[in-house]
Amino acid sequence: MLTAYDYSTAKLMDEAEINGILVGDSLGNVILGYEDTISVTMEDMIHHGAAVARGAKNSLVVVDMPFMSYQTSVYDAVVNAGRLMKEGRANAVKLEGGATVAEQIAAITDAGIPVMAHLGLTPQSINAFGGNKVQGKSEEAAKKLIEDALAVQEAGAFAVVLECIPAKLAAIITEKLTIPTIGIGAGAGCDGQILVYQDMLGMFSDYVPKFVKQFADVGTVMKEAFAAYIGEVQDGSYPAEEHTFQINDDVLDKLY
Ligand code: KIV
Repeated sequence: MLTAYDYSTAKLMDEAEINGILVGDSLGNVILGYEDTISVTMEDMIHHGAAVARGAKNSLVVVDMPFMSYQTSVYDAVVNAGRLMKEGRANAVKLEGGATVAEQIAAITDAGIPVMAHLGLTPQSINAFGGNKVQGKSEEAAKKLIEDALAVQEAGAFAVVLECIPAKLAAIITEKLTIPTIGIGAGAGCDGQILVYQDMLGMFSDYVPKFVKQFADVGTVMKEAFAAYIGEVQDGSYPAEEHTFQINDDVLDKLY
């Protein structure tokens, strides 16, 4: 899986046969320029979800439930998941948390909306964690993650994202579950992987986590193209003859 937030990128990923596209609330960071995902709204997710869904013909489109759209009550969770599917055209929704949101997962699933869970470093809890820290390193924390993974599976989640946890712990969780695990900073023992696309294309330099591999340096290509464009506009070489529309001389003569 990869994240995407717009039509054109989703279309390229779909053509590259990426299995699943997550419209992540990471759009708060990489699209909207916030420091974290806390301020992302339902309207943001619906707007970007629908754009991605228009571009993704075959890939599964999962849309993130933003902060406070499901924590407040089971009722809110079902209503907001419904909006993400109805207005945001999601095939499935993703929410963060374990046993504490199991009731929400069960109710959303009962409403016919597939739910992907998300455990480990869950960015909506950044203030509770005190920063972007690897999770599940102590015996107590590791056991809690295993319990949470089993709880979200029991509640009906069809898959679970494991973010920023030790690789060996992720492999144990993957072995214990019957649903697929999708790792991000969780090693190769997960069933699948996900990355934020700006990270793997070298387009976002504010914060690059250790687990990111840069598969292309698109950021540099973009900056070079922007500089070439302004250079050619300033020296008059762009637009050239081939970029220009013509008009018949007899029409022109009548304009003087
Ligand atoms: O919002 C997001 O992009 C995510 C992924 C990092 C899994 O939740």
